[in-house]
Amino acid sequence: MSSQPFITSGSKQKEQRPCAKMAAALRLAVAVSCALVLASACHGLEVGYYKKTCPRVEQIVRAEVKKFVYKNAGMGAGLIRLLFHDCFVQGCDGSVLLDPTPANPKPEKLSPPNFPSLRGFEAIDAAKDAVEAACPGKVSCADIIAFAARDAVYFLSRLHVKIDMPAGRLDGRASDATEALDNLPPPTSNLTELAGVFAAKGLGVEDMVVLSGAHTVGRAHCSSFVSDRLSAGEGSDIDGGFARSLRKRCAAADRIAGDEPTVNQDVVTPNAFDNRYYKDVLARMVLFTSDAALLTSPETAKMVRDSANIRGWWEDKFKKAFVKIGKHGEIRKNCRVVNHGYPHGHY
Ligand code: HEM
Ligand SMILES: *[C@@H]1O[C@H](CO)[C@@H](O)[C@H](O)[C@H]1NC(C)=O
Repeated sequence: MSSQPFITSGSKQKEQRPCAKMAAALRLAVAVSCALVLASACHGLEVGYYKKTCPRVEQIVRAEVKKFVYKNAGMGAGLIRLLFHDCFVQGCDGSVLLDPTPANPKPEKLSPPNFPSLRGFEAIDAAKDAVEAACPGKVSCADIIAFAARDAVYFLSRLHVKIDMPAGRLDGRASDATEALDNLPPPTSNLTELAGVFAAKGLGVEDMVVLSGAHTVGRAHCSSFVSDRLSAGEGSDIDGGFARSLRKRCAAADRIAGDEPTVNQDVVTPNAFDNRYYKDVLARMVLFTSDAALLTSPETAKMVRDSANIRGWWEDKFKKAFVKIGKHGEIRKNCRVVNHGYPHGHY
């Protein structure tokens, strides 16, 4: 199992439960390591964090997200990606939302992985405005991203994929474009590179495979895949007919300067948060090298097949991995250095 031990896999428990389970499992373990683990893994984020300070926050965010997603499903895709891009860069701290200022002209949101493709900012603004009206100064932008991303999954899955999202994140004050470039994997990544980037955030290979399933919704700009996937003629790892249709669609890039064409990630059910992505991977009808790479090891290829074929397998794993991605950030053991080894990188 690739998951970190403090997140249970294959059970339907809420976030607090793994801690209880883990405490039991660790009863005989060295007292010192137990204390460290509990401090880092259990006293961080919690489900229902705003029960006392802003009891309606999750309903308020959900109502705003619903408006945006039902008007434009693409907003939902943007919100799901926003959590990933916030959390992989300096932890989940809302830093991806910060606009440029004279003192900081190149924040994360202007970095190539984010600009001009990242979207959903208006939905976050609307949610934050509504939350501030109800409980001023109580709810972090980082938590609003996490709730909104969770709600986007809920609506795009037609209310099937329900996630208890722990909260208690704080907003950061720094945002640097180069950090986004350094921490987010490019779509040209091979399996080794992907595994490395996710491992650096405390996420396993299985987490990486199940999270990639988010590419079952939304779009991509042609520049995200043309150069490596389409330029080499009929590449062997992409379906021929699919490649031809992409070439045709993306050729418009030459004609309309500044208005780059986009294509749907999942050609079959583009707005449905379902396991269709894995069927696309198997059919070699996915856009990125990083998507196709999931078939390049027997271990990950089996995860792709299980996601495609076993009812509920992917949804269950996705929910847990999505919560896990939302926990990136840490309470340092030594205030002078980032945490090393286990447990690192998680609230
Ligand atoms: C495994 C490594 C990953 C790579 C290399 C990758 C790369 C990309 C790229 C290049 C795009 C297209 C952006 C554009 O051109 O408009 C994209 C879109 C997207 N990604 Fe990923 N991604 C990865 C993982 C994830 C994860 C973990 C999530 C969320 C759980 C995610 C969610 C999305 C969504 C929803 C979209 C569509 C966004 C929209 O329509 O606005 N991706 N990704
Ligand atoms: C992945 O890419 C790296 C270069 O970044 C290379 O060293 C490695 O051999 C590649 N791995 C595979 C499996 O192709």
